[in-house]
Amino acid sequence: MRKITRKVINKLFKNNVSFEPDARDKYLESIECSYLFSMFSLFKEVENVPGHIIELGVGAGRNSILLGNLLKTTNQHSNAKYYGFDSFGSYTQKDLDENSGLSKKKWEKNSYEFVKNRISNFDLNNVCKFIKGDIRETLPKFISDNEERHSAGTFFCRFVYIDTSAYTPAKIGLNTLYKHLAKGGIIAIDQRRQGGEWDAFFEFCSENSLEPISGRYFNDVPAYIFKK
Ligand SMILES: C[S@@+](CC[C@H](N)C(=O)[O-])C[C@H]1O[C@@H](n2cnc3c(N)ncnc32)[C@H](O)[C@@H]1O
Repeated sequence: MRKITRKVINKLFKNNVSFEPDARDKYLESIECSYLFSMFSLFKEVENVPGHIIELGVGAGRNSILLGNLLKTTNQHSNAKYYGFDSFGSYTQKDLDENSGLSKKKWEKNSYEFVKNRISNFDLNNVCKFIKGDIRETLPKFISDNEERHSAGTFFCRFVYIDTSAYTPAKIGLNTLYKHLAKGGIIAIDQRRQGGEWDAFFEFCSENSLEPISGRYFNDVPAYIFKK
């Protein structure tokens, strides 16, 4: 009787083997893999351009880890740093009021300490630096102050990744950073669902007669500008 039961159980399980994806292979899923490919391709385009990397809107620090590691992989991390700007408490009230469709809940768990801790775990403390607060205030101050890696008013970057999803910080980012972008550098926006970031981007392009370029690949950045 026991033998028969085991046989039935074995048969049942054999026919219902479920193939759970292995968590270690997550980055190979098409959505993840295409994102990495897009970021690697953008990085490749600015690899030989001097200057730092800036991200506006850090979230949990995914791109900090990615871009910090790319600077390390290419052995450029002594001269070029990644600077990430965020409130580290989700969207500001001003941005929530200005941009319908944003939810404070989504990013509020990514505190400064949480992101710093992740960066330490990836051994990127020397490469990735973070500036906490509303970009409206922190970005202009960062540029005009004497900092560890630039003198007041003198700042050069090669890549600016705008991912605030909100109009005003994106517009301030473009207005402030384009003049600090080295020749051959790129400013990209991330927003897949068109909103404030797109508004700011197209407004800036039209005010400055710049040609917006569309991302080439599946799940690529939606748009970017290249400084000639
Ligand atoms: C879409 S998430 C960023 C996701 C991240 N870049 C990634 O790829 O995982 C947007 C982030 O922008 C930040 N943010 C939006 N407006 C801001 C502002 N005015 N000042 C500072 N941070 C802001 C939010 O706190 C949030 O963490």
